[in-house]
Amino acid sequence: MHSLAVSWEGDHLRALDQTRLPFEENYLVLKSVDDYIRAISEMQVRGAPLIGIVAAYGVAQAALNGADADFSRFEGDVRQAIERLRASRPTAVNLFWVLARMEGVLRANPDRSPSELAQLLLAEAQAIHREQMEADSRIGELGASLIPEGSELITICNTGELATGGKGTAFSIIRQAHLQRELKQVWVPETRPRLQGRLTAWELTRERIPFRVIADTMVGWLFSQHRIAAAVVGADRIAANGDVANKIGTYQLAVLCARHGVSFIVAAPESTFDPDCPAGVDIPVEERDAEEVLRLGDVPVLPEGYPVWNPAFDVTPAELVSYYVSEAGIKHGVRAPREQKEEQ
Ligand code: MRU
Repeated sequence: MHSLAVSWEGDHLRALDQTRLPFEENYLVLKSVDDYIRAISEMQVRGAPLIGIVAAYGVAQAALNGADADFSRFEGDVRQAIERLRASRPTAVNLFWVLARMEGVLRANPDRSPSELAQLLLAEAQAIHREQMEADSRIGELGASLIPEGSELITICNTGELATGGKGTAFSIIRQAHLQRELKQVWVPETRPRLQGRLTAWELTRERIPFRVIADTMVGWLFSQHRIAAAVVGADRIAANGDVANKIGTYQLAVLCARHGVSFIVAAPESTFDPDCPAGVDIPVEERDAEEVLRLGDVPVLPEGYPVWNPAFDVTPAELVSYYVSEAGIKHGVRAPREQKEEQ
């Protein structure tokens, strides 16, 4: 299975190191469970669906690496890999959904040999990857119908090929809308502290879609100066009541969309909807190292030791969402979309 972000190379996973983009295109070779965990927790690979896909390959890798051992040692290694991967990042539910699927393969095949089980686990990881690619294409086709011709859109973070292993979620809608009826412009907040906006800018450049990058602080003024048709964003977990956890900054974007009558569209595969999570308050929000705020890459922007807070995600209440788009269809949210609101 090949994609821009990751490809299975027979006995290991090749992954594009997203911390070096857009300046360097370096590829990582993931061969041990430690390699997979490091890549996920250090955000060399990132984005909810891709985290799940990489974790699935990580379980398959543990199985392949231990396939010569006796059954109980093999099973112990694979289960330990699952537990360690489960602790790599807490917010994106795709990770937990994928690991439950991989565990299900172990449980359903107690009579298979380690090498047979390793092949079954690899096939499951590839199926998860393939299904995500299919879901992404469908999300793009469905979501594009919500975007008027010649629109200006805004997104946040990165939801493209780099984030999903397929064509992206929100990004897939943007690409499809541009193919069908040319977008005027996509506005790209840089998305401090990890600057995933530059990944989106890199992907938009590759797709020849016109864009402009802005600092995250500029969104409110942008809305008062430009007629933005919609914000199109991804999600890391959608609670049963429709609350949406996504990259930090999404909530303030949603509030500004409500103030300015801009449609707020959430795009995510079905695996991002968590029926076991009643509401946004129940979603665990990852807090990351202070270093990510104290520095901009390798450059210090604050003296070492200054107190900071670094939540990696926020939760947008369902009342601010106009549409949810998944591979299963389009669902109306609570908030009226742009065309139903009076111009502001
Ligand atoms: O911390 P990240 O970069 O993994 O966060 C990614 C996001 O918040 C994305 O918007 C989300 O995962 C959707 S990706 C299709």
